[in-house]
Amino acid sequence: MYTLEQRLELAKSIAIKAGSIAQQHRDEGLNISSKSQQDFVTQADYAVEQFIQSELKKMCVEDGFLGEESGLEITSGGMWIVDPIDGTSNYIKGMDYWCISMAFVVDHQVQVAVIYAPDRNELFWASAAGGSYLNGAVQKLKPVPVDKAIVGLGLSSRRPLEGYLTVIQRLVNDGFEYRRFGAGALMLAHVASGQLDAYFEAHLNSWDGAAGLLLVSEAGGKCCDFLLGQGQYLGNPMLVANTQLYEQISTSIGFTLLPKAS
Ligand code: IPD
Ligand code: CA
Ligand code: CA
Ligand code: CA
Repeated sequence: MYTLEQRLELAKSIAIKAGSIAQQHRDEGLNISSKSQQDFVTQADYAVEQFIQSELKKMCVEDGFLGEESGLEITSGGMWIVDPIDGTSNYIKGMDYWCISMAFVVDHQVQVAVIYAPDRNELFWASAAGGSYLNGAVQKLKPVPVDKAIVGLGLSSRRPLEGYLTVIQRLVNDGFEYRRFGAGALMLAHVASGQLDAYFEAHLNSWDGAAGLLLVSEAGGKCCDFLLGQGQYLGNPMLVANTQLYEQISTSIGFTLLPKAS
C-alpha cells in the first residue's frame, strides 16, 4: 500500500513525463476536434490521460480514477482526479499557459496535489498538512490590499456570459483588478504562489479544481467547500482567495447566492 508521501512523489514524476509527452505531440502536429463551441480536444489530451492512468495503476492498484477524457473508475480506496491538459486552447495555439493537474482525494478531501506547467518549468505540489511548494520553494501567502489585488476569473460555455460580465462589473466597481488566462487549474496554482490573489469560476469540474484547492489552502489561502464535502465532482462554483480578501470578494460577486450543483 502506497503512503501519501509516495503518492506525491509518484504524481510529480508522472506529471513531468506527461508534460514531455504533451510537448512531443504538439511538436509532431495535433489532430484537433471540437466537443462544443470553443471547446477542443486533441490526441494529446487522450494520450496524456491514458499514460497517467496506466502509470498510476502500475503502483496504486487499489486507487480509483476520474479523468476529463476517460470518465470514472471507482474502487473502494481513494481516487485520483486528473486533467491531462488544462488550457487545451492555449496549448493548441502554442501559448505556454497550460498544465497537467493531478489530485488524490480520500473521503472527498484532497490529500495530494500536483500541477505541472511544462512550457513554464513550473512544478507545484502540496500534501495535506505538508505545505504548498513551487519548484521546491515553500509558498506562504502574505496579505494584499484590495487596490493591489488581482482576481483570476474563469468562463466556460457551460455557463451564460451574462453572469460572468456581472462578476467583472462588481469586482471592478469594488476596486479589484481581474484576469482570465484560460487554464483554471494553473490560475489556481498561481493563487497559491501569489501571482493572482483569488480565483473565481461559477461552474468548474473537479479535474480543473481539486489540485489547485489544496495548493491554495496549504499556502494559507481560504477556499470554498469546492467538493461540497460529499463527493459532488461536476460543475461546482469555485472561489479561493488570499484569506483576508475572501469575504470581500465573496460579497462582491454574490458567491453565497450561487446555486449548488444538484
Ligand atoms: C477549461 C479551462 C478554462 C476553464 C474551463 C475549463 P480545459 O479546461 O480550465 O480556463 O474556464 O472551465 O473547462 O477544457 O482547457 O481542460
Ligand atoms: Ca476540455
Ligand atoms: Ca480543464
Ligand atoms: Ca482538459
